[in-house]
Amino acid sequence: MGVTSPLKGQTHSRSFTTKFLPYVIYALFPIALFRFYFHPFPSPPTDQLPHSNRIVLTSSSSSSSFSIEEGTSNEVPCNYTNGRWVRDKMGPLYNGTTCGTIKDGQNCISHGRPDLGYLYWRWQPSQCELPRFDPKTFFNLLSNKHIAFVGDSMARNQLESLLCMLASVSNPNLVYANGEDNKFRRWHFDSHNVTVSVYWSPFLVRGVEKSKTGPDHNELHVDVIDERWGSDLDHLDMIVLSIGHWFLHPAVYYEGGSVLGCHYCPGLNLTEIGFYDVMRKAIKTTLKTIIGRKAGSGSGIDVFLTSFSPSHFEGEWDKAGACPKTEPDREGEKMVEGMDADMRSIAVEEIEAAKVNAKQFGGLRVETLDVTKLSLMRPDGHPGPYMYPFPFANGIQEHVQNDCVHWCLPGPIDTWNQIMLQVIKRWRR
Ligand SMILES: *[C@@H]1O[C@H](CO)[C@@H](O)[C@H](O)[C@H]1NC(C)=O
Ligand SMILES: *[C@@H]1O[C@H](CO)[C@@H](O)[C@H](O)[C@H]1NC(C)=O
Ligand SMILES: *[C@@H]1O[C@H](CO)[C@@H](O)[C@H](O)[C@H]1NC(C)=O
Ligand SMILES: *[C@@H]1O[C@H](CO)[C@@H](O)[C@H](O)[C@H]1NC(C)=O
Repeated sequence: MGVTSPLKGQTHSRSFTTKFLPYVIYALFPIALFRFYFHPFPSPPTDQLPHSNRIVLTSSSSSSSFSIEEGTSNEVPCNYTNGRWVRDKMGPLYNGTTCGTIKDGQNCISHGRPDLGYLYWRWQPSQCELPRFDPKTFFNLLSNKHIAFVGDSMARNQLESLLCMLASVSNPNLVYANGEDNKFRRWHFDSHNVTVSVYWSPFLVRGVEKSKTGPDHNELHVDVIDERWGSDLDHLDMIVLSIGHWFLHPAVYYEGGSVLGCHYCPGLNLTEIGFYDVMRKAIKTTLKTIIGRKAGSGSGIDVFLTSFSPSHFEGEWDKAGACPKTEPDREGEKMVEGMDADMRSIAVEEIEAAKVNAKQFGGLRVETLDVTKLSLMRPDGHPGPYMYPFPFANGIQEHVQNDCVHWCLPGPIDTWNQIMLQVIKRWRR
């Protein structure tokens, strides 16, 4: 279905649908009304950390290898959810020259983004230290393994961040590519026999995406997984799931073959059921199926679910200055609330439920990559107008498309993989 979403390929970018969909999500459906409709009551702040758990760091905490989780096993594992962004002179591990797999729309520096301050921040969790990403550690822990990123374009964004960081040590060889706009790809790192794949599957469950030739809404079967990735489960050792934004689109939902309801489907004479319950069902189905299929297999699997990554449209999406910030938010400046909070909670809750389920079997581990808060605090990390090369080469035009959803590479999304590596390290200990 070509270029129908802000959340996928922007290569042939100026088509009508690409312009139209962000409009549907962010303008036609005013956020205030949207929030009121789906979330009439404010969420309690998710920010308060129990002070009893606070770990006092000694002055040696500046040593990047220090982390409370590196002690004995009865210490509380680091909670990366809350924290603040602090300045960091070191900067990223890669750039658009050293990494060849940055998607065009996210290659902000190459596209002429002039301010580079957004590259010099690191996430400082409230209670511990988050070490810099160490590609060698990743390779050692994942050697002879196959890791897959499955989901929408945020999954791809996270995958490309990981590939770029790994590429600073070893070259990825593209061994498979299929689908329009490279939706299905696989790389092999010969040096450590590590395989990394990406699967396009914006609902995780079986679905038909809206298109010009097909339905003008998405169709989802909430009770069956998408076999485009599911049929490869046997070969996967680790899977990183990432969905969210696609559930905002107009859709008709099916369960057990019959219509469950719909979301934003005027004219179809179906019951509006919103998308929260549907996304929950999709995640439940996915985790249950993974655990069910892997349980008896003897091979085990590690599963991450990346929590919702908020967008930062402040102005109109097609005008200059849609996401104009150049610095992170300060601690306490913004709470995770409204839709962001609800989307995050669904991921956290379903992973917690899956942990209980997985416990009955050996070799199955599931965890949330809780990136909602740290991502919310990075309004400065999006391509904005630099989704296209040199958008202001001829001065500021009346219409400028902006991407305030995905993340520049390098950029804040590198932190997601930094946290993921720490959890993998903890698991292997
Ligand atoms: C980490 O902290 C967040 C926010 O306080 C909380 O929601 C979450 O459950 C914590 N995670 C773990 C694994 O304790
Ligand atoms: C990219 O990084 C390499 C290696 O660190 C460096 O030599 C090069 O100058 C950088 N390129 C840009 C455009 O910053
Ligand atoms: C390389 O890794 C794959 C799993 O991704 C494994 O099946 C294969 O045996 C490994 N090859 C070697 C030579 O260890
Ligand atoms: C809408 O659906 C209801 C219940 O299925 C049905 O009774 C009614 O005739 C439908 N209305 C239209 C205009 O199709």
